[in-house]
Parts: sequence; C-alpha cells; structure tokens
Amino acid sequence: MAIAGIERVVFGVEDMAEGRRFFNDWGMTLVEDLPTHLLYRTVDHGQIKLVPAADPTLPAAIEPGSTVRQLVWGVEALSDIDDLEARVRTHAPNSAVRRVRLDLLELTDPMGLAIAFTLTQRTPTPHCAGQVAQPSPRVDREGTFYTGAEPQRIGHIVFTTPDIDGVEAFYCTVLGFRPSDRYRGRAVFLRCRAEGEHHNLFLLKSPDSSSHLHHLAFGVRDIHEVFGGGMAVAKGGWPTFMGPGRHVISSCYFWYFKNPCGGAAEYYADTDWVTEKWQARELPQEPRYFSEWMLTDGVSRWEGVQQQSIK
Ligand SMILES: [Fe+2]
Repeated sequence: MAIAGIERVVFGVEDMAEGRRFFNDWGMTLVEDLPTHLLYRTVDHGQIKLVPAADPTLPAAIEPGSTVRQLVWGVEALSDIDDLEARVRTHAPNSAVRRVRLDLLELTDPMGLAIAFTLTQRTPTPHCAGQVAQPSPRVDREGTFYTGAEPQRIGHIVFTTPDIDGVEAFYCTVLGFRPSDRYRGRAVFLRCRAEGEHHNLFLLKSPDSSSHLHHLAFGVRDIHEVFGGGMAVAKGGWPTFMGPGRHVISSCYFWYFKNPCGGAAEYYADTDWVTEKWQARELPQEPRYFSEWMLTDGVSRWEGVQQQSIK
C-alpha cells in the first residue's frame, strides 16, 4: 500500500467569516467560494474545506465546537484502496467502512473520527523534505525575505486521545502506518509510509476521557518563511499558540497559531526525512526532548521593539 499523505481536511466551522479571514491570512489559495463551503488549497493541491458546523451532511464531530470533521488520506492507486478496504473489513469490521466509489473509501477510526482514502491529486513540490538541494553560496545577491507564507503542503495532523495504544494499533496494524518515535507512555509519532517526512499523524495522551484536535501542520519552504509567514499572520491579529522555536524530535522549526476552525495551525520547515532504516526511539517526555529553543509568544518586527540604551 502506498498512502501518499494528507489529501484533504474538512473542518466544521462555527464562524465561517473568521475561518475565511484566518486561511486567507495563512496564505492559502481560495479555489471555491460557495454558500455551502469554502475550499482552499496548498501549493501542492492539498485541500482545506470549511463547512458550517451545523451542516447536517457533515460526519459526526469528535468534540464540541469548531473542529475537524473528516480527514482524507491520498493513495497512489486504486489497488491501494482495494487493499485498505480488505484490511479494514478483516481487522476492523466495526469501523463503519463504506466503499462510496471505486476511488473513495470511508470509515470511522477508534477516536470516532471520520477518515477516508482517495486517489491523490497532489503534485509534490521540490520543497518536500528530503528533496531540497542545498542552496548555492550566496554571493553578490541578497537572501529571501517573505512577506507572507505560501503553505506548500499539509504535513501532519495531531490529536489528543485517551487510548493512544488502541489508536496506534488501528493505524499501524490495519492501515500500515509505522511509528517513528515515541514519548514513553505519553505520545507516538506515526508516518503513513516507510519513506517520508518524520510524521504525518501524532497522537498525544488526552488530558481527559475524550479525543481532541490538537493541531494541523503546513510545510513551508524554509526557516525564513516560518518567520516571515508567522509575522504576517500575527500582524493579522491572530494569537500565537506557541513559538517560534525548533523541535528536537523531527528537528523542524515551528510556529503555532490558534486556529478559529479548531485546534492550532503550525508552520514548519526543515523536518527530518526518514526511510525504512530509521529506528524509532522511545524518549521520556521532558522539555529537553520537546524543543531546542522556543519563544512563547512570537517575535517582533523592529518597529515593535523598545530600544535599550547600551549603557
Ligand atoms: Fe506539529
């Protein structure tokens, strides 16, 4: 089976005007603007769909309020969908599996989240991790400054859930995901294929007895775009959730913002690319394994900085 990655995320949104304003500021391209929904895309044609939360056609929510209502994974061939359907029917017969079309398989995961598999329409950009050539030395030319981000792809999604082991078993045993790393007893990083970005799905221990969307992450081209994009989003009045900083696990630079459509949204760049040779680690959940460094509330442009006297 070849699951290519996250194809589409459908949000049920209580305040569509705020959702529109957020994803415009986030740098996404609006491709459908209809009374029923808004559809945005990343550069590689991953999709974010915003639907009014009260729309009765949406699958059930895992939590109250604005949140993800369906998570769609892309696959490379119809035979992958055949394989997935056979595995789900054999190993998870209670997952409400439906072969809606030849190219669409829908089911419900153990968190109660509606998920689906379809043929991927994404066109990976050269800026996918592991494929970026080292930049040539910069001589007689200035570096790149971004006045806003253009999210290249939807890289990973994160949930908190009370039964990490049960959800991990479903994704790994039934759907073929692999663990990349874990915080002992507290969290597991999963990837959807042997070779790819360090994780596409991250499960954290829930603080309560239910599952929640934690964040959705968008890959950008480089660290400069994390900062430039983040400063543009902050300028739009959107509050930082965490960052910027650099994670220890996966090595990426990050900046998280609160997302009015649910959870947080993350810009990230320069993440680890792993293959089947990668050995999953088991680490204690300690701050030194969370971030090499981190600011807690964004950064300021020069005009926002109070100058200090040197003496
Ligand atoms: Fe993340």
